[in-house]
Amino acid sequence: MQVFSNFSPLQHLLQRHHGKFFLLCDENTYRECYDVFISHCPAQYSPIVIASGEENKDIETCAKIWQALLDAEAGKDALLINLGGGVLSDIGGFAAATYKRGIAFVNVPTTLLAMVDAAYGGKTGVNFKHYKNIVGVIEQPAMVIIHTPFLKTLPTKHLKNGFAEMIKHALLSSAEAVDELLTINHLHVIDNEVLITKSLFIKQNIVEQDPRENGPRKVLNLGHTIGHAIEYAAMKNGYEILHGEAVALGLKVMLQLSVIKMNFDESTAARIINFIDKHYETPVWLSSLHSEMMNAVVQDKKNTNQQIRMVLLKAIGQPEYDVPCTLRELENVLNI
Ligand SMILES: NC(=O)c1ccc[n+]([C@@H]2O[C@H](COP(=O)([O-])OP(=O)(O)OC[C@H]3O[C@@H](n4cnc5c(N)ncnc54)[C@H](O)[C@@H]3O)[C@@H](O)[C@H]2O)c1
Ligand SMILES: [Zn+2]
Repeated sequence: MQVFSNFSPLQHLLQRHHGKFFLLCDENTYRECYDVFISHCPAQYSPIVIASGEENKDIETCAKIWQALLDAEAGKDALLINLGGGVLSDIGGFAAATYKRGIAFVNVPTTLLAMVDAAYGGKTGVNFKHYKNIVGVIEQPAMVIIHTPFLKTLPTKHLKNGFAEMIKHALLSSAEAVDELLTINHLHVIDNEVLITKSLFIKQNIVEQDPRENGPRKVLNLGHTIGHAIEYAAMKNGYEILHGEAVALGLKVMLQLSVIKMNFDESTAARIINFIDKHYETPVWLSSLHSEMMNAVVQDKKNTNQQIRMVLLKAIGQPEYDVPCTLRELENVLNI
């Protein structure tokens, strides 16, 4: 899978492509990004527009995409272009990977989170019964096109959302990468192509070593065991939290556990936690949902035989995966 920062490779792909091609958008990317996309990559598209939002990343929305493809008599040689954020590339990738046992798809991410994270790596899927990404397949997009001007219309909270994954990537990479991010004062100016590219390459390198997550790729779950548990508890109780906001809080918990269990440097952890606290609010409802979060942690598909296995850091750039943790250890840190 290749990543490009201009549209020519996609144009060439479309010129060579014999089957039908479809453009999947949600109502926001249809409004804000469709014209920009067409101006860079003109062709006769059949747009499929789905409702935006995590709550629509479900099998019913996926069925609508399958239906639209069927109605348009899309064959096995059809191509689906996913123009949107991580919700759209997750569900669009899943719809494409399963329609007629798999048609090709291309991701054109329009959010920071999708640019640095969700658009690569091949994880596709939908939520089911409040469980995040519990149904899905791993299928790589034919290519990913990064066009940072899409970020101009992205609301600030969604820039912050993507920035959390950039912090995660930096923590997996080097102290220099972390320092570079920690000097940023205003998260709404994160449209820096250089920083974005650095971040996505950290993920790409890790995925290439282990595309099906048998081992080393697990480090990308840094901060996500707790992050997903927060999202689960929020969704179940009608509260709203963005994936990246939950991951930022999950990274704080991970850092605290890393200090206790892995000898991670305490002052470094404090510096990063301070930065996260400055930019990400801890919702007031969170403390009332700890027990529900613990249930979610036990149910998490990454935990086997009821054992909690987490990714922790020995130091920045030195992650260790499958570190066994007890519920008690987690509870203690959550109550700090
Ligand atoms: N597959 C993976 O490896 C992976 C990795 C990380 C996250 N994810 C998933 O990604 C999802 C979150 O992705 P997201 O944060 O991109 O959310 P999203 O796709 O919901 O996008 C956020 C919002 O911004 C709107 N939007 C998108 N681009 C816009 C633009 N350029 N201008 C204006 N509005 C725009 C969308 O319509 C939506 O309302 C979660 O479901 C998460 O599970 C997947
Ligand atoms: Zn994530």
